[in-house]
Parts: sequence; structure tokens; C-alpha cells
Amino acid sequence: MKSGLLEEIKARIDIVEFISDYVALKKSGQNYKGLCPFHSEKTPSFMVSPSKQIFHCFGCGAGGDVITFFMKHDHLSFGEAVRYIAKKAGIDVPDTVLDKNAAARRDGILKANEAALRYFVSALRETTSALAYLAERGVSDAMRDLFRIGYAPDRRDGLYRALKKKGFSDPILKNAGLIAADGGGPRDWFRGRIMFPIRNLRDEIIGFGGRAIGSGIPKYLNTPETDVFKKGEALFALDLAKGEIRRRGYAIVVEGYLDAIMCHQHGFSNAVAPLGTALTHGQLRKLKSSANTVILVFDGDDAGVSAAKRAVSGCCELDIAAKVLLLPRGEDPDSILRKSGAAFFEKALSSARSPVDFLLETAKGERVDVVREALTMIATVKDLLRADEFVRELSDRSKMHETALRSELELLRKKARAPERPPLPRPASTTHREELLLLSILLSFPEKSRVVLPHVNLEDIRNETIRRILRKISERSEHGTVGSLLSEADEAEAALISSLTLNPGFDPEHVDANVADCLARMRERRTDRERRLAEESGDIVRLDSILKEKRKRAQGTRS
Ligand code: UTP
Ligand code: MN
Repeated sequence: MKSGLLEEIKARIDIVEFISDYVALKKSGQNYKGLCPFHSEKTPSFMVSPSKQIFHCFGCGAGGDVITFFMKHDHLSFGEAVRYIAKKAGIDVPDTVLDKNAAARRDGILKANEAALRYFVSALRETTSALAYLAERGVSDAMRDLFRIGYAPDRRDGLYRALKKKGFSDPILKNAGLIAADGGGPRDWFRGRIMFPIRNLRDEIIGFGGRAIGSGIPKYLNTPETDVFKKGEALFALDLAKGEIRRRGYAIVVEGYLDAIMCHQHGFSNAVAPLGTALTHGQLRKLKSSANTVILVFDGDDAGVSAAKRAVSGCCELDIAAKVLLLPRGEDPDSILRKSGAAFFEKALSSARSPVDFLLETAKGERVDVVREALTMIATVKDLLRADEFVRELSDRSKMHETALRSELELLRKKARAPERPPLPRPASTTHREELLLLSILLSFPEKSRVVLPHVNLEDIRNETIRRILRKISERSEHGTVGSLLSEADEAEAALISSLTLNPGFDPEHVDANVADCLARMRERRTDRERRLAEESGDIVRLDSILKEKRKRAQGTRS
């Protein structure tokens, strides 16, 4: 898009104010500090600069401008983020200016999903067998309406035809995952299924889960991954549960769609479910923004226990306080609630186990191995106070000495420390310091680039990110601001630009001397490289002239 408009949009939004809606910021010198929303940390390394209108996390390396922040935080495309922020700034953005394709695709999918849901909802009203199935499962009318449950008729292309009539094109319906093509042409993806719409926190329908009536195969079918439907990011019922999760201070995580619905029906409106896969960090982070405690409810069979273990580990890594409720084998919240009622389930929830208890109770092997397994989990807990509590609990329950546990824990921590969550791409340690320094100087003194860059051979820059940024700077007719550079930066570029802007690492008193040093160092490296080439290829003449050049330069610096 044209950078002028983008700059205008950014100029009207204050990054500090914007980010304050997502992160608690505290003034710290000229900047603001807070806990980074992109990785878990206890001490703030997330900085926002009001004067430069950028953010940077010195923990994980994320950084950029207000648009980068919003894209990353809400998993949006560039166009989506700009559109939203422009709206907030009161600027009308003509469609042609944005990366129209992505935004239009997304829009099309959401509209198709909404239209499909209308079709499913009215089909349910007309289909006695589907209504009978819901009644048999004990789903109340109130829940049916609240969740907007529907039915996909068992027809080859009923939805396809209905939506075509409404003007939706084949590609849009395919993008939405609502139709698939086979030899006989387009056919509905969902057929003969009770339909559960899946919404994001902005109340958009991003996909569906469909349950076969009776014993169809597969029992549940989801929307395939689309531009808007990422199974690992979404949680069923989170849109409806968010408020209650905040109020109660914890979320109940159950395994299935119907479990979540029955929980809501029985007054546990803080229940959510993943979409048939193990809980991901992305999903846990979403929960964490509403509450820092979860109760994980699983079937007590072997599969349930190992799924619970993985979920508990995820919680530990993200500093979420977890409790585990294992139901009797073969039971789920749906069956328990229907059999024994809300009061019974409430009691079961309050008996949910701490992670340590849960591990010891479900362990099968030798005591030592069990304890080690528990310690391995504790080693991933970032909150040291909580980890300490776990160790004490583990010592209590296992009757092993705390000191022994602590030294074993230290060993495990060292082992685990090696590769943490991969930080964002930042210049490798092999990056030549002069490249970094030069870029840093040009970011702080953009007016110097006109004079300096003609002396730089961009092909010689070893670090790719730095090379790309310098190329962009050199291709501009006017020297730009950090803001305008960020407008066209990718993630790695944005991270580097914001980091150097907040932490320039050179002495402003000696900028010109620093530039000269950088240029000299680059020239030297170039000569060395050419010399090696000449030596390898046995080009004596070339080698001779390189050495002469080198001597001349050395004399020049001495005199
Ligand atoms: P379960 O097999 O435990 O079923 O799957 P359930 O939730 O108890 O379903 P009902 O009570 O028989 O209707 C748990 C979850 O795993 C996913 C679904 O999200 C389901 O709710 N799943 C299951 C699938 O995605 N596909 C399947 O074929 C089965
Ligand atoms: Mn069930």
C-alpha cells in the first residue's frame, strides 16, 4: 500500500495508548515497560517508546510498530490490522489500497460461514430426526439457541445450491471449507450432521464441528484448515465462556463439544473445549488472558491420562495454575452431568488434583522414576515460587528428602535450559558487528545514509536481514523514518529495527568516526575475501595487486 496513507494512520494512533489495552504498562524513564504478551515472563522486558512509536521485547526479540503489534497479537494479516486500526483512527481506507486479496478472502469466508449457519439452523428446525437426536442427548432449547446449533441435511449438495443462489462463488465456498469437489462436481463437506459453529472472540464464525447422527463415520468432522480456521488456535465455546471465566477466575477445559455444551447447560458457563486435538500453547495463552487457573477434565482411561499429562506440562510452561479432574473410565462431563447432576460435578471439580498429586496417583512405574517424571515437569515451571511449592509437595507425598529433590531438579533444569522457546530471528552471533553498528547509526541518523551507503557494497553484507533493510534504505529517494521502514518490514526486520532503535549501542558523540570504522572494516573483509579467492585460484597477478592495495591502505592509516 502507499506508505503515505499508512504513515497518516499510524500518526493518529498513539502506540502506548493502543498497547495499554492489551498490556499493563508502567512508565520507566522515557519509555514504558510491561510483561511481554508474546512469551511468558515474570519480569518485564517488553518496552514501548512513545517518542519513536515502536515496541520491542528484549526477552523474545519481538518488535515493530503498532501494526506489527496488532498483527502479532491478534494473528491478523497486514491488511486486516491496517483496516481495523484505520477505523479506530477515523480514516477511511479505500479497499484498493490494502492487500485486498487476503482481506477479501477472509471476508468472503466469514460471510459464507454465516450464511451456511443460517441454512443449518433452519434445516434443524425442519428435521425431526435431528431435533429428536438433540433431545435424546438432553440438549435444551436454550442451549440450542445460545450456541446456534444447526443441522446439515444428508444431501449431496443442499448447502452448495442454497449458497450459490445467494451469490457465493465456488472458490469462496471452497476457501471456507464448506464444499469439496469430487468426480461428480461440488458436494457439501458436512452431510447428515448436527452442526456446532465455532466462533472466535470477535464473534465471527470461523468454522464448524459436525457430529454424525447415530453411528456415522467419522463421529466428528471439523471444517478443514482455512485462512480463518486454525484448529490449534481456537477453543470451542470460549466466546460464550469468556465472561464467566473472568468472574470465577478459572476455566474448565473439557474434551468434547457436547461436554462443553452440557457444562454450560448446567451452570458451568466457564467451560471450553479444544477441537479434538491436544491443547496447544496458543489455546492456553488465549485462556490465560481471561484467567490464570484452569481445571482440566479428562476421561480416566489411558488416553485421557496421557492427554492430561501433556496439558499439565503446557500449563506449567506458560505459568498457568492447573488442576486435574480425572473422571471414571469411559465417562465424560456430559455423561456425568446427565447421570449425577450439577451438584455432583461441582463437588468433583473441587476435588481436582494438583499436578504433583495427579502425577503420583496415575504413575505406574517405580517410585524413583515417578518422582523423576514429576521433577521433569517441575523443571519447566518458570515461576520459581510455584516450583518451590511443588517440590515441597512432592517431598511430602513421595517421602523423599527435599534436598535430594532440589539437587535433582537443578540438574534437570540445566538440561532443559538449552533450547528454550526459539526467539524470533535475530542476527546470529556470527553477524559482523560493523554491519549491526552501521545499520544502527543509519536508523538513528537517516540523513547520513545518502553519504554513507554509496560506499557500502550490499552484496558484502553477510547478515541477510541487515542486508535487506540497508537495501530498502538505499532504494528510497528520500531518507525515511523508522516508522516508514517498519511499515514494510517483515517480522525479522521489524524485530531488528525496533531493537536497534531502542538500544542503539553506539556513542552519539563519535558517530562519524564509528561510520568510518565500519566502512574500513567492511573493506578489509572484502579484500580478505578477494585475496582468498585469488590464492585458491592461483591468480598471481590479482593477488599481487590486492596485496599492494592492502599495503597502501595500511600506510594510509598509519600516517
Ligand atoms: P469423543 O470421542 O470423546 O466424543 O471425542 P464425545 O465428545 O464424547 O462425543 P459424543 O458424546 O459421543 O457426542 C472428543 C472430541 O474429540 C473430537 C471432537 O472434538 C470431540 O468432541 N473428535 C472426536 C473428532 O474431532 N473427531 C472424531 O471422529 C471424534
Ligand atoms: Mn461424550
